[in-house]
Amino acid sequence: MNSVMIPPGDGPLVGLWMYQNGGGDSVERKLVSRLQERGARVITGLNLAQSIAGQGEILCQGFPVESLDLFLSYNAGEQTPFQVYLYETLNRSVTCINSWEAFNLTEDKFLTAHALHRAGVRTTDYRLCHREDIDGLKRTIREWDGRVVYKPVHGWGGTGIFKIEDERQIDVLMPFIHRLDMPHFYLERFINYDKTDYRIDIVDGQFVGCYGRKAPDDDWKTNITSGGSVITREANDAVIEVAIRAAEVVGADIAGVDLIYDLDAEEYVVLEVNGIPAFATPEQEAMGIDFNDRKISVLTDLIARKIGVA
Ligand SMILES: Nc1ncnc2c1ncn2[C@@H]1O[C@H](COP(=O)(O)OP(=O)(O)O)[C@@H](O)[C@H]1O
Ligand SMILES: [Mg+2]
Repeated sequence: MNSVMIPPGDGPLVGLWMYQNGGGDSVERKLVSRLQERGARVITGLNLAQSIAGQGEILCQGFPVESLDLFLSYNAGEQTPFQVYLYETLNRSVTCINSWEAFNLTEDKFLTAHALHRAGVRTTDYRLCHREDIDGLKRTIREWDGRVVYKPVHGWGGTGIFKIEDERQIDVLMPFIHRLDMPHFYLERFINYDKTDYRIDIVDGQFVGCYGRKAPDDDWKTNITSGGSVITREANDAVIEVAIRAAEVVGADIAGVDLIYDLDAEEYVVLEVNGIPAFATPEQEAMGIDFNDRKISVLTDLIARKIGVA
């Protein structure tokens, strides 16, 4: 484990753990220099997985992270259970972006849908059933006319998500269901939409950017990992309002809100809130997706406010 260089001076200390691929390294450099201009000292590369904790202290690469004034955790790809556990611990004494509570909520599709629904934000109809409640599962398929989507609550990239169209499928799948050891069934009603989505980036309650994704011709999932492609797309007031409200409800300082337009109900529906939404990659910037500078600038203002510098 390499040891951490503590910048000299007495400005507030900000710790970062930021993804480096897809242009993350250059976004990080810009963010660091903006924060330094405000008088903050910045330590990068604080992967909490490289820590040892005890006696009231988490030492990350030898550095006592509890001496930070703020920690920005922004690396979805290299997340590990150990790092998440220490993120939760650190969040108890240091201001984190996102807060661990918001992060934890957005990592779980059921918890997110439930919180949004209770706050009056439109989500899909959803249902959580006990893994042994096969009747509940079949009843849901009947009630929703075979337009049911099964999702792992912690999944990403569209993996493990499939449609269930007929309750007889359940009988066929039964042996697998038992072997897979699913903790529960999380189901959503399938929304009739045009196979494109909106990704709205919100930082500190402000709209910073929008792009979309389009499913491939032979699929209904827009994820890039399912063959979807990124499209440029203008946001409108209605979709921005829902996204801002969703970010607020889950308590996320930074949020990438995924929405689709329900063609039957004629309204926007929040599919999920991502707590670590990637900045536009260099390729996406070349397509005209140009919100990175604004996002960095709103994020700098937010951090500066939280650490008490102008
Ligand atoms: N209830 C639904 N109705 C219609 N399409 C859906 C529904 N839920 C998800 N999808 C499609 O599947 C994709 C992946 O679902 P999502 O909940 O965003 O999971 P992930 O975290 O894997 O991206 C979405 O981008 C959307 O295209
Ligand atoms: Mg998604």
